[in-house]
Amino acid sequence: MHEWFDVEKKLESSANVAACAAGLDTTMFNADVRPADPRFGDFQVNGALPYAKRLKTNPREVAQKMVTAFEKDNSLTSVADLSIAGPGFINFKFKPQFYSNWLAAFATESDFKESASRFYSGDRVVVDYGSPNTAKQMHVGHIRSVVIGEAICRLLEFCGAKVTRDNHIGDWGTPYGKLFFAYRRHLDESALTEDPLGELERLYKLGSELAGEDEAVLDECREELVKLQAKDPGAMALWEKVNELSIAGLNEVYEQLDVTFDCYLGESFYRDKVQQVYDELSDSGLAEESKGALVVFHTEHKRYAKQPFIIRKSDGASNYATTDLATMLYRHEHFNATRIVIVTDDRQKDHFEQLDLTTAKWFERTGRERPIFNHVMFGKITGKDGKPIKSRSGDPIRLKDLIAEAIERAYALVKEKNPDLSDAELKHIAQTVGVGAIKYADLSPNRTSDYVFSWDKLLSFEGNTAPYLLYATARIQSIFRKLDGPQKDGLEKRASTFETDEEIALARKIVEFVGALQTTIETLRPHMLCLYLHELAGTFSAFYSANKVIVEEEGVQARRLILCSRTLLALKIGLSLLGIKTLERM
Ligand code: ARG
Repeated sequence: MHEWFDVEKKLESSANVAACAAGLDTTMFNADVRPADPRFGDFQVNGALPYAKRLKTNPREVAQKMVTAFEKDNSLTSVADLSIAGPGFINFKFKPQFYSNWLAAFATESDFKESASRFYSGDRVVVDYGSPNTAKQMHVGHIRSVVIGEAICRLLEFCGAKVTRDNHIGDWGTPYGKLFFAYRRHLDESALTEDPLGELERLYKLGSELAGEDEAVLDECREELVKLQAKDPGAMALWEKVNELSIAGLNEVYEQLDVTFDCYLGESFYRDKVQQVYDELSDSGLAEESKGALVVFHTEHKRYAKQPFIIRKSDGASNYATTDLATMLYRHEHFNATRIVIVTDDRQKDHFEQLDLTTAKWFERTGRERPIFNHVMFGKITGKDGKPIKSRSGDPIRLKDLIAEAIERAYALVKEKNPDLSDAELKHIAQTVGVGAIKYADLSPNRTSDYVFSWDKLLSFEGNTAPYLLYATARIQSIFRKLDGPQKDGLEKRASTFETDEEIALARKIVEFVGALQTTIETLRPHMLCLYLHELAGTFSAFYSANKVIVEEEGVQARRLILCSRTLLALKIGLSLLGIKTLERM
């Protein structure tokens, strides 16, 4: 059954074999497999149409030739019936037994993982996410990189890749001058103990304000910075203290979000690795001097013809581009990365495009193998007015506060639904629902678009939301709680063949999980998986209201319980890949 784990991939390779056997020009043929219109079948191969168009022949004839070839393949005809629909779509309708076998073969999380881990086995991926600038609070907007990045890590790991979670914090540069100036004069010790990030942020803002008003202060800030850059022991000690406090503060929030990084190789880590970047880029003729700065032109791209990638500023200092180039080299050499994924907002699109272009040329000229690079970017979280959301006071909302409010709101909601639950249980459920809901709200829209933040929507028990999916998983578990041991065991042996439309539709939907996983990971777009899980829960609902599960007839009950248990399995795996915990009951 293992060759059928990914039905779409299996059909694709069979289609390629059939195309060859049918005498088609395989260089012009692309199978194009997708789930079918259920009226005609379960999956369809659509490639005959564009092929015929390209070769100016009759698409139905091409489809017919392919079907004849398919019919010689026993591994196909034994599990599915074939037909041609419309102008040349080839439909596969799987026999109910196929679904029983599939569901028996992939019955546990490790069954799924074992097969899925072949997709990316051997890949070593560094995922750079989270990555805020230190000595500041994290605000609502910061949640996106953490949540999307973590989902991508989990998906890649499930599919067999070795993942390094790297938080590339912004822990170096000009802000430290102003922060240190204010720290030395205006520190509130008790505030620093109570809320380190809050106090550091206050000091930084104060430092900027004062420097803006007074030239002499600005000079002192610059002096602080010069000392830091010269590794003056006093300045370094303060820098280390600030960093330690910052990371501890960040970790508090990450813990709430169930995210743990393997390393925090921030900008400061690369400050002594920039010389090699200047040298290699200059020696290989890639970088040139322009108005005192060192720059790389990518004139073949209209967009960058007049806007070079500045890798050393005219005052001789390194910048974001320099450290990022050093990052690429380090990840290649130290982590032996086959892929680098960086998760940031879409305002950094140009930067990463130029980074990728520069790295490509640099690595080619120096004979290095270049890892695949993905800039996973995302849009803004806005209020109903389309502007970034703000707290009542007009300040950005602190991420910490947002999470606390989500849990509080979830608590009230769950209590209203289940007034009899103990307080401890309510708190546990509220934590899972609250955190799950804000994560899901961030993952379910296509990441490249902005989305409107709405408490009502994200905490709703209807629609494409976490509460809806969590409720579906809890409901299925309650079905099993009502059964005694022997009723739950040996289902496969007792089960009869699927018969009703709803049973078949649900079985098919569960099988589609693998395709959804593939698409999600190929596009690095978690909303694809959300969409699938939402559809799965909907298909389950339709099945559950039309087909009674607990019935007299043993064979019917067993086969329906199998569907329940596999729906639960797919929902649980899917949610955990999105970084969302599930509940036994709610
Ligand atoms: N610190 C940056 C910011 O807050 C994000 C860093 C992303 N990673 C990188 N390698 N540039 O925008």
